[in-house]
Amino acid sequence: MPMYQQLAQDLKNRITQGVWQAGDKLPSLRQTVADSGLSLMTVLNAYQLLESQGVILALAKSGYIVAPQPEAFRYPETQRQIYFSDKVDINEFVFNVLQASKQAGIVPFGSAFPDPSLFPQQALARSLVKVTRQMSPSFAADNLPPGNAGLRKAISQRYAKLGMSVAPDEILITSGAMEALNLSLAALAQAGDWVVIESPAFYGAMQAIERLKLRAIAVATDPREGIDLNALAEVLKTYPVKACWLMSLHQNPLGCSLSDQKKQAVYQLLCEHNVSLIEDDVYQELYVGSSAPRPIKALDTQGCVLHCGSFSKSLIAGYRVGWVAAGRHAPQLQRLQLMSTLSTSAPMQLAIADFIQSPQYERHLKRLRHTLADRKFAMYQLLRAHLPESVSVNFEPGGYFLWLALPAHMDATQIYHSALERGISIAPGNLFSNQAEFRHFMRINASYDCSPELVRAVKALAQILEHSPN
Ligand SMILES: Cc1ncc(COP(=O)(O)O)c(C=O)c1O
Repeated sequence: MPMYQQLAQDLKNRITQGVWQAGDKLPSLRQTVADSGLSLMTVLNAYQLLESQGVILALAKSGYIVAPQPEAFRYPETQRQIYFSDKVDINEFVFNVLQASKQAGIVPFGSAFPDPSLFPQQALARSLVKVTRQMSPSFAADNLPPGNAGLRKAISQRYAKLGMSVAPDEILITSGAMEALNLSLAALAQAGDWVVIESPAFYGAMQAIERLKLRAIAVATDPREGIDLNALAEVLKTYPVKACWLMSLHQNPLGCSLSDQKKQAVYQLLCEHNVSLIEDDVYQELYVGSSAPRPIKALDTQGCVLHCGSFSKSLIAGYRVGWVAAGRHAPQLQRLQLMSTLSTSAPMQLAIADFIQSPQYERHLKRLRHTLADRKFAMYQLLRAHLPESVSVNFEPGGYFLWLALPAHMDATQIYHSALERGISIAPGNLFSNQAEFRHFMRINASYDCSPELVRAVKALAQILEHSPN
């Protein structure tokens, strides 16, 4: 075993023995070099390995600390492995929750977007001014589907950084990932067809299924391990599934990522049954550790993975620019886009292309990842300090969501209404399922700075939970 792996294993053993516990600071790199006699590079590699495994966290202020230990997470006892929905009916509820969360001054624990103050808005505004000044008279036509050539090339170069070969021709620029996902679904399935989703799943998946009048098969998804492979295999064997929509990295709302082994198993299963995958990967850039995790798309030799990405979570939300690397489905998606929205706004495409090709982008991403990692841990600690012990908090490294399990008798939708009256939004579990099995769960956005106002909001939420009727 290489030295760095041995050191990582030793450190892990000591953490298991309780030498260092959740939240404890580990010895600094320099201290470990002195203690072990190993080189700085070996020690750094060991720490980075543990970080990528979610065992430790690198925080700007405290250095390396032991990550929160898995809590005895109460998954719904009543949850079945597979749910069938002939009719998905969630849009009205999602609409009402999202409208209510738009109130001015609300504490946005229910928001799906990161704190907008983390976006480089001024630098992007400069890119926008620059590109609009330089736009050729034919800019509208130049940026029709599949979208701006420079932006597609820049995106394919980012895939190359992950060791993936995705040709610019395979990429379609869209109005956010939402359009990418909707076009992908429309290309693969027609009214009445079965589509596999996760349970719980991002509500946008269910809204798209509802709009296209598809039928959903929701497969149980573990808050740590991701989708249940046996249940997925059973469904694929038994039903004429047309597409599978899932998130392999930083799943919304759970926050978990699939192991490389599981990604491989999911891909193989889908290939065996000739089912295309819509891989929703909008949080791909928000990883922790030094190396970027690769999506299932990286395994795709058949062109059957439609990989949907976005700049809304990692660069700027309001510009509405996303993409899909659609494999062999790319030509069909281009035609569908031409028939629906025609194209993504040309100035926005050009501005993003300009920004992401500059060194500013990588600098911004690095800062963003560090800030989100710090804030997520701070929020975890804050929740743990104030919420009743009967509430479990699922902490997964990366992204900015925390998934909370309340005692089974509680109704998170009622908590949502009570919190709203006190100026706080949360995302209740019912947003993420067509059934009621996540009624006592909620998702919290942990991307905001722990200001006094935020601390007050957590205390208010704790009071609401404590006084929630039995
Ligand atoms: C999992 C997931 N997919 C897709 C989207 C939509 O992304 P965009 O804003 O780029 O349309 C979101 C936004 O909340 C999301 O959380």
